[in-house]
Amino acid sequence: MNFAHTSVLIQESMGLLKPRSGERYLDGTLGGGGHAEEILLRSSPDGRVLGLDWDEDAVTAAGQRLSRFGERLTLRRANFDQAKDILAAINWSRVDGVLLDLGVSSHQFDAAERGFSFQASAPLDMRMDRRQKLTALEIVNSFPEAEIAKIISDYGEEPRARRIAAAIATERKDRVIETTIDLAELIVRIRGKRSRAHHPATQTFQALRIAVNRELETLKRFLEYGYELLQPGGRMVIISFHSLEDRLVKTAFRKWSEKCICPPRTLKCECGWSQKAQRLTRKPIIASAEEVRANPRARAAKLRAVVRL
Ligand SMILES: C[S@@+](CC[C@H](N)C(=O)[O-])C[C@H]1O[C@@H](n2cnc3c(N)ncnc32)[C@H](O)[C@@H]1O
Repeated sequence: MNFAHTSVLIQESMGLLKPRSGERYLDGTLGGGGHAEEILLRSSPDGRVLGLDWDEDAVTAAGQRLSRFGERLTLRRANFDQAKDILAAINWSRVDGVLLDLGVSSHQFDAAERGFSFQASAPLDMRMDRRQKLTALEIVNSFPEAEIAKIISDYGEEPRARRIAAAIATERKDRVIETTIDLAELIVRIRGKRSRAHHPATQTFQALRIAVNRELETLKRFLEYGYELLQPGGRMVIISFHSLEDRLVKTAFRKWSEKCICPPRTLKCECGWSQKAQRLTRKPIIASAEEVRANPRARAAKLRAVVRL
């Protein structure tokens, strides 16, 4: 399978994950397998990787790319939110490192029929896991107008979210808004012609994608217990591409690093919490100008890391 995706922040993520021979790693967002390949190379000859992705195309492509590593790589088509159960099922109680490189792969954008892109006409789909039922078509054509406005505003930070949602509500009285182009044209009518740098539908499409895949809810659930997957001394690296994702990671990593999470001014500690981890990055690491020049997708990437105590 032709799976085009350039991995971001490879050197920076590996510098923090520090793959070593004999160790076990979880790559929860396998994509094209770029990060997983690097972990396998750096943990030669016997480091192992469990790679998860909920997109069948990614699992197939990574399986082909990484076949030379044989039994050192275990693949599952799954949500990283199920990592705990999958680790138990393969008798790995904990791992030495976890990597999440969130969001979509370039392959998902490039495969027009997946409906992530407004560059080509395709059904409004946007599911990363095509076993799930909810699609962008359903959100656009059947969610209440106010809910659509909230999605576009919150996840897309689109200033004209309410006007776009109102136009969707009017349009769908007459016909089903079926394709990516139908929706993109409607947005252009509200937002005006595209500027050279930025298509006016970019933020709305991003918002719908995040809603369809419940990306923030999944990350939030994972961050409630993620540290439990790590051995003492194990490291977790998370790369995010959206400010709301980065805020969730930052807040969780800060909490994991607290000694006590009682409300301020509590006289005696009653939270029962103990420090789980230590931050390896106070500020997020971002891509160098050189990397952004070579791969514009890297511009939005923010990397944070912790080590389990
Ligand atoms: C940015 S790509 C990862 C690229 C990969 N690190 C590489 O170097 O090729 C993100 C991948 O994560 C997957 N993904 C996103 N959220 C997921 C989730 N909750 N569970 C499993 N996979 C997820 C997507 O399907 C996509 O293939």
